Amino acid sequence: MVKKTVKKKTVEFEPRIVVFACNWCSYPAADNAGLARMQYPANIRIIRVMCGGRVNPAFVLKAFELGADAVLVSTCHFQDCHYIFGAKRAAENYERLEKVVRMLGLEKERMRLEWISAAEATKFAKVIREMTEEVRKVGPTPIKFNGRPEALPNQIGDPTSGCCLEKACP
Ligand code: FES
Repeated sequence: MVKKTVKKKTVEFEPRIVVFACNWCSYPAADNAGLARMQYPANIRIIRVMCGGRVNPAFVLKAFELGADAVLVSTCHFQDCHYIFGAKRAAENYERLEKVVRMLGLEKERMRLEWISAAEATKFAKVIREMTEEVRKVGPTPIKFNGRPEALPNQIGDPTSGCCLEKACP
């Protein structure tokens, strides 16, 4: 009798991390990390923005809605922001957003704010490595819309009408 041994494959969870990167600092840092052939996980999808202050909290929530396992907002250092107060605005937005994300029941590891200049390619690679490891530990996002964004209104009411979820709201 021939015994078949079937090896179980353990597939490691690969998080999808959306990175909002400022055009003047973090985006070049990512570029420089690539040019210097620094190793970091390929789990990120970078969205370039002209300033950290441009990252509207709704962008982050939308990323989670569309299935991101984590979101990184990466801006210039305060004194380097090309638009003077953009990096500070990003920090203020992030602080408010953190509360909303906690209310949604998401773990703190799923969101991060970093200040990375163009000269800090090493830091960029390190942050991505750390974040990927942390998100691997907490697992896939608990936010599920059956992969169909159009299913969203059925689950939370119609977001296009009124200011809240009450039926009577105009
Ligand atoms: Fe980079 Fe404002 S220009 S955060």
